[in-house]
Amino acid sequence: MDNFIAFCDLKRQYSRNREAFLRAIDSVCEKAAFIDGEFVKAFEAEFASLCGADYACCVNSGTNAISLALLALGIGPGDEVIVPANTFIATAWGPAYAGAKPVFVDCRSDTWEIDVNAVEAAITEKTKAVIGVHLYGMTFDVDFLLALTKSRSLYLVEDSAQAHGALYRGKPAGGLCDVGCFSFYPTKNLGAFGEGGCVTTDNETLAATVNSLKNHGIGKKNGEHDEIGFNMRMDGIQAAILSEKLKTFQTSLERRRKIASRYKSEMKHPLIAFQQDTPGAQHVYHLFVVTVDNRERFAAHLLENGIEISAHYRIPCHLQKAFAGLGYKKGDLPNAEYLAEHCVSLPIYPELEDGEVDRIIRVCNSYSGEAKV
Ligand SMILES: Cc1ncc(COP(=O)(O)O)c(C=O)c1O
Repeated sequence: MDNFIAFCDLKRQYSRNREAFLRAIDSVCEKAAFIDGEFVKAFEAEFASLCGADYACCVNSGTNAISLALLALGIGPGDEVIVPANTFIATAWGPAYAGAKPVFVDCRSDTWEIDVNAVEAAITEKTKAVIGVHLYGMTFDVDFLLALTKSRSLYLVEDSAQAHGALYRGKPAGGLCDVGCFSFYPTKNLGAFGEGGCVTTDNETLAATVNSLKNHGIGKKNGEHDEIGFNMRMDGIQAAILSEKLKTFQTSLERRRKIASRYKSEMKHPLIAFQQDTPGAQHVYHLFVVTVDNRERFAAHLLENGIEISAHYRIPCHLQKAFAGLGYKKGDLPNAEYLAEHCVSLPIYPELEDGEVDRIIRVCNSYSGEAKV
């Protein structure tokens, strides 16, 4: 189909700014600053400022950002880390890699964000941290979760992988809690040309530990390795691309918000439900997720009309085979399970044309629903 609307189209983004991207790559090659180095340092300073954090430590994926953040907080075997069930599985890899136990909790039925009451009920004497996820680009209820975690002496980690530039009561994601973890996977609102991630924090010791761990546990003196580390550094080319993309980042977020606001005001269908706002949150719409009565039927209707959708996420973490050993069963976390069965992610990216947005709205509004077919 000629006018097919892909769920995500990174080729459009590249073709619109090709010369600048190629110049950025060339400047890294000219200086042979391939790993860590000056381009990474420059991007770290820019990104820390965007997040309102004192330190940004770039790594080679969002998954590893979470993993290193937890290790640097001292989390390990015997500890429990509370995680929402409705997130990308990588949120739970962090505790698992550290040898700790992920404890899954349900989300709220309105905002689909981590349920603070469920967190409170899940705390045991083994709990060391909670990972809140700013789901789809909207912050969770930070004030409530911070109050709870501080009163119980627990760390609060922000999984901000989907929330670059999102605000909570005017403050940016990644600078709201003890530590923030970002992904620069290519499809993200701020995406690299490969893998990438970042840990943000105001804690100098934590930042130094992450920087050492990501670089083979390197010590202060030449040749020293203070602990068993990893090779999780960021490539210079990824940093240079990210710095280039930061120049148009706020405009790209505005475009996402504009499209989302049209979806919310013009999509009028009794079978389509929207994510409700966390009070005080400014959403950046990494994903625009709705729920429908029957995802397969809805997806087929859109595809017949040349529109591709996705679903985030089809299976909640607690029901994944990888975590079968933890003993969860269907019915344990009903809101997350409902979302997994009914969620649909609609195309939302800055390069979508107005005419395409019109068509997506029109086709969604013409969905006949399960009962009528
Ligand atoms: C919520 C969430 N956490 C963690 C990750 C992991 O990031 P990465 O794919 O860069 O490892 C992602 C990205 O896909 C994500 O969406």
